[in-house]
Amino acid sequence: MNRRRRVYEGKAKILYEGPEPGTLIQHFKDDATAFNNQKHAKIEGKGVLNNRISEYLFQKLGDIGVPTHFIKRMNMREQLVREVEIIPVEVVVRNVAAGSLSKRLGLDEGTQLPRSIMEFYYKSDELGDPMVSEEHITAFNWAAPQEIDDMMSVALRVNDFLTGLFLGIGIRLVDFKCEFGRLWENDTMRIVLADEISPDCCRLWDIETEDKLDKDRFRRDLGGLVEAYQEVARRLGLHVDNPTQNQGGPVLVRSQ
Ligand code: TMP
Ligand code: ASP
Repeated sequence: MNRRRRVYEGKAKILYEGPEPGTLIQHFKDDATAFNNQKHAKIEGKGVLNNRISEYLFQKLGDIGVPTHFIKRMNMREQLVREVEIIPVEVVVRNVAAGSLSKRLGLDEGTQLPRSIMEFYYKSDELGDPMVSEEHITAFNWAAPQEIDDMMSVALRVNDFLTGLFLGIGIRLVDFKCEFGRLWENDTMRIVLADEISPDCCRLWDIETEDKLDKDRFRRDLGGLVEAYQEVARRLGLHVDNPTQNQGGPVLVRSQ
């Protein structure tokens, strides 16, 4: 598998050339980073869990008509996706104050927001993903006004759907980050949901105990990250036995 051409390597994932033109293989690593890579660790089993959870969420979102890059899961760590041109903007949707919003505006973590709030961050490791406005996005041509509208309406739909889905399994979706790409089909282009949606890029709190079931366990040195992600998978009805096994390489699984 290492002879495959590596198209891109990020902090938590690698993209390889896919089996057909216009496809890529998205490989989930066990690496966890925070605060723009100042903090870094390998957490065995994280990649397998994120692959499975993200597959499930992208499939469910596809089922309600949200356009995504996802095609199918290939094995424990990898999924087949459509090749898209990633828009260099991270879209964050928040329902409850936490993290950088709490810090910036002095809001207690856990405060319900008057309505869902959307924010944009420019994807740049050198700059540490600074927050930007629609004005920056259009002035610097990172995305056109219509593309911003499309990203915002999809992000809100994703938020509504995931809020309900997680509520049904006793989890509050506090906030999440999503990314979009341009998918070219013949001469037409559309904006699709890309990257991943997993506990690495969401805040997920248990409704009853307020326990954190997301990457804040790593950011804040709380420990028990794999157990928390496993709990999210379990509540979603996903069976991920021994996510830490088979570090050697991919193992084919039957698709459902
Ligand atoms: P924040 O409170 O640190 O701004 O994060 C908001 C949400 O976005 C949280 O669910 C974590 C997620 N996020 C990422 O997935 N990647 C990032 O680089 C950042 C800064 C946040
Ligand atoms: N993803 C970012 C990093 O790896 C920030 C974060 O998730 O806290 O540094």
